[in-house]
Amino acid sequence: MSTHAQYGPQYASKITGTGSAFPQRVVTNEELMKTLDTNNEWILERTGIRERRISRPGDPSETNSSLACQAALRALEMAGKRPEDIDMLLFCSVSPDTPVPISSCWLQKKLGATRAWGMDLNAACSSWVYGLVTADQFIRSGYVKTALVVGSEVLSTMTNWEDRTSAILFGDAAGAAILERTSPESPHRILSSHLGMDGSYYELFSVVAGGSNMEVTPEAHAQKLDKMNMKGREIFKVAVKTLADYATKAVEAQGLKLSDIDWVIPHQANLRIIEAVAKRLDLPMDRVLVNVDRYGNTSSATTPTMLDEAVRDGRIKPGHMVLFDVFGAGLTFGSMLIRW
Ligand code: UT7
Repeated sequence: MSTHAQYGPQYASKITGTGSAFPQRVVTNEELMKTLDTNNEWILERTGIRERRISRPGDPSETNSSLACQAALRALEMAGKRPEDIDMLLFCSVSPDTPVPISSCWLQKKLGATRAWGMDLNAACSSWVYGLVTADQFIRSGYVKTALVVGSEVLSTMTNWEDRTSAILFGDAAGAAILERTSPESPHRILSSHLGMDGSYYELFSVVAGGSNMEVTPEAHAQKLDKMNMKGREIFKVAVKTLADYATKAVEAQGLKLSDIDWVIPHQANLRIIEAVAKRLDLPMDRVLVNVDRYGNTSSATTPTMLDEAVRDGRIKPGHMVLFDVFGAGLTFGSMLIRW
């Protein structure tokens, strides 16, 4: 685990803009019932998901980097910045446009972020928070002034649409944030972050084929080994415990209590996971932000899209304490506390 409860002497970072983008096509639970042995009641009761957005295959405006570009432009507009102002671009995702070149390059070209260098960052569903922590380090060290961190996914290409236990969960979306240098005395800044992982849980969620372990042969493809495969019940248990632990770490690092936090933005995998964490932490659900009902689990995009929605509709106001709390395949986990 790495802990950054305190800031260096020179700089700190703050989020100055947020944006999000979604594919146009809405897929309801009823629509899934046409091809899967499932029903609306089961999905709603077990996951809280009503619908999700799915990219249209072959539509160039709904590839991962195209959605990310739309989200980034909105974040830049809110921050009052131009694409050329970005020094560093982090593309946080498990579903890149292509293995090579990296999605950051696709995005740089589409966005016209001509001055930026960048890289892809994959920590599964925790990727965007990992990306914020990474960008924060580069800003605090003085290496960059302005960073773009996108959490963007087209999970529909990795979904086994014949598996009712997983296909009902996932969706496509993009979220983005602009991070800028500020003074460590500024009230509006990142306050603390904690990252962790435990590779001993690697079997709980995997895409077996498509890396150097196994090529996507016709046999592997036929067995859906190139698609997401998960042990849902086991993930559920470890997710609840980990999310509760990391939320506690984030507030304790600042000498605070959970009752001091205005908004918790957890990874949106399943409403029941979120409710179980809130119960464990004695946290009222009216301080927990939820969008899983409308978008499903969009992996690294869940937290930035939720942040963007709550900033734009005025729920998150200047001075509010906001806590990100995430977990993902691997397993990876992390939390970050900011004052907006
Ligand atoms: O970002 C990380 C990604 N993954 C997760 O976070 C997943 C976390 N886990 C979950 O969200 C839940 O475990 C699931 C939603 C995946 C499953 O919910 P559950 O309450 O753990 O259900 P279960 O796996 O215990 O299955 C209960 C029953 C089973 O039938 P039997 O054996 O009791 O007869 C399943 O076959 O529900 C059945 N079932 C379904 N029925 C209708 C499983 N999927 C479906 C379905 N529709 N889609």
